[in-house]
Amino acid sequence: MSGKSIRWGIVGAGHIAQKFAHDLRYVAGARLSAVASRDKAKAFAFIKSLDKEYPGQDLSCVRAYGSYEELASASDIDAVYIATPHPWHAENAILCLRGGKHALVEKPFAVNLKDGQRLAQAARDTGLFCMEAVWTRFLPAIQELRRLIGAGELGEIQMVTADFGFHADYNPDGRLFSPELAGGSLLDVGIYPLNFARMVFGRPFEEVRGYASLSPMGVDESAVMAARFSGNGMASLACGLCVETSKSAYVLGTEGRAVLPLFWMAREMETQKGKADPVKRQFDFPGFGYQFEAEEVSLALAHGQSESTVMPLSETLEILGVMDDLRRQWGLKYPFEG
Ligand SMILES: NC(=O)c1ccc[n+]([C@@H]2O[C@H](COP(=O)([O-])OP(=O)(O)OC[C@H]3O[C@@H](n4cnc5c(N)ncnc54)[C@H](OP(=O)(O)O)[C@@H]3O)[C@@H](O)[C@H]2O)c1
Repeated sequence: MSGKSIRWGIVGAGHIAQKFAHDLRYVAGARLSAVASRDKAKAFAFIKSLDKEYPGQDLSCVRAYGSYEELASASDIDAVYIATPHPWHAENAILCLRGGKHALVEKPFAVNLKDGQRLAQAARDTGLFCMEAVWTRFLPAIQELRRLIGAGELGEIQMVTADFGFHADYNPDGRLFSPELAGGSLLDVGIYPLNFARMVFGRPFEEVRGYASLSPMGVDESAVMAARFSGNGMASLACGLCVETSKSAYVLGTEGRAVLPLFWMAREMETQKGKADPVKRQFDFPGFGYQFEAEEVSLALAHGQSESTVMPLSETLEILGVMDDLRRQWGLKYPFEG
């Protein structure tokens, strides 16, 4: 896969940033140039820990910044990966776009549609590339699924079921459960089945209804959702922070079906046409799988695109609107939303 040479900066030296940094080694022409933390010593420690935990990458020239502003204004960075908690995605990405950097923004792109629109507008104003980091869409198994659907091999898709629930240790101050950090299962993991269903049907949601159980602090600990698409499309989706679900996705068409275990990080897909025997295929790759979204950035920039055609901003904003609507149904408003 050919692409442009990209000097990456990472904003927020946390858990997911480490995995992304690791996977950059698999992207032709990409390299990690800088890491920004609110604490310079933490940025240094992050780079050091990368070297220790994931040796094999030359990190000698990676700079550590003690503020996001410094990284945003650095002259030798092409693109940034925003890896802060949800409430700061929009603000951090806008800062970097205004500093002339292309932006790959962790999911959710923003906490709500209003902030998402503000970020998308900032990207349009600068003309720089901007994409929500929905890595699932770029995984080899998911690319093959998209091909199968596009070629009509599963017939007309009528139903999708997908869920993503895991058991997180309860921490009222952590980003998963704290209302101040936009906690809850929907924005953290429910976004995956929603995004997956939207991708499979390839057209906008017509209606989404949901039920959630709220924690004592008022965020959704688990939720079920039913979605309707034009024609005969329906999706049954679920998410949770206190329950382990199967984390599988089923794509059911009139001519066949596809089953993806651990669909959001898929390495395997089973397909079955009519009554024929099912066929299981492996789609293995090195690392965690974040290299494919980074490759998308390289390719888009090489082609002079300011948006991805696979994960366009219009779909990101549509899904933010759906999540706003679901939270309205549940009476869930974050304290900073006024
Ligand atoms: N794509 C995926 O598979 C995946 C997986 C996990 C998470 N995520 C997404 O990535 C984002 C970060 O998740 P994470 O698990 O990496 O979180 P995390 O480990 O808590 O790291 C987030 C980082 O954000 C920075 N930060 C800035 N303001 C903060 C604040 N007020 N409170 C706490 N941290 C703050 C911190 O970095 P500094 O202290 O260095 O400034 C922190 O280390 C989330 O939005 C999540 O949805 C994606």
